[in-house]
Amino acid sequence: MRKNAYSSEKNFLREKSFFISNAYILVGHKCEFEKKGDYKTINFFEKSIAIYKFKEKISAFTNRCVHRGCKIFSNAKGNSSFVCPYHAWSYDHLGRVKNIPFEKKAFKLDKTRIKLEEWTLDFCGDFIFLKSKKNKINLKKFLGEEFNQLLKISKNIYKSIDYQIYKWEANWQICVENSIDEYHATFLHKTTFKNVLKLEPKYEIQNNVMKMKMPVSKNYIEKFKKIKNYFNNLDNTYMHTLFFPYSSISTTMGNSYYIQNYLPKDIHNTNVTSTIYLPKSKLKKNPVIEKFFSNTCIKFNNEIFYEDKDICESIYSNVRNNNSEKDIIGNLEFRIKSFRQKLNKI
Ligand code: FES
Ligand SMILES: [Fe+2]
Repeated sequence: MRKNAYSSEKNFLREKSFFISNAYILVGHKCEFEKKGDYKTINFFEKSIAIYKFKEKISAFTNRCVHRGCKIFSNAKGNSSFVCPYHAWSYDHLGRVKNIPFEKKAFKLDKTRIKLEEWTLDFCGDFIFLKSKKNKINLKKFLGEEFNQLLKISKNIYKSIDYQIYKWEANWQICVENSIDEYHATFLHKTTFKNVLKLEPKYEIQNNVMKMKMPVSKNYIEKFKKIKNYFNNLDNTYMHTLFFPYSSISTTMGNSYYIQNYLPKDIHNTNVTSTIYLPKSKLKKNPVIEKFFSNTCIKFNNEIFYEDKDICESIYSNVRNNNSEKDIIGNLEFRIKSFRQKLNKI
């Protein structure tokens, strides 16, 4: 156990500078950026970042207007032109200022010299990963053997049905540890996971990829037979993978996919993002089935998130000022051990 791991400002700042140069964040999927003007925002440390579809490409910029610092996009997602709402400065796909109202009257500026801060996007199939300009690691290298597997999954996804940003009052590491804790799933989540999972996890850990698979209960398979046939999925497992340290993807039998991020705001607060996707179906489109199943997935996910939020905040309120006592980690919390081991090396 790392003494004072969650509550030491020194650790937090060291890890922050390490991850800004070394981490990738799984921010989404190309299906969320089909139309020109589609955007999505995330919050990473003190910055808001906008991922935006220009005519030419998808780009990512710090969501902070160079004029006076206003957020250019104030919603979690949407579709709009790349124009700051305050004084209507607009930007191009390289983050350069394109148009300034009353420019000649009000300013003497060389517009080519002012730019938004840019972030790098890398792709694994249709999945979109974000990293800072300081990060020189290649995505294929970061994901290792998982790259091809993930690419295949990305080609099976066809639409996003929900995107939420939650604010949890807990250190981000507690939130990540909760997400890779199999042990609690059937006890805390009584109306959801308890009916779905058989607590028999199998682990595959390699470098930045911490994968866990467990069987889905017979009852659940029976209950969602129609959905399973609609999406033509043969897999009867629940899969959850953490991409160290912030991002995860999970799926129940390949019927729905969930991307979640646990992004530090500061040492005491975490922005949790959740995007839900449906896979392609080989059958004729059935909007009734899709609507029903989308609502089921969103409800399922929301219940879990509020239960997890309470637990993470409860743990953090206990440990933030008194973290000298060790906790006890068992085999059903195996990935927490791996996660801490990796953090210890930073
Ligand atoms: S702050 Fe954005 S245009 Fe003025
Ligand atoms: Fe949970």
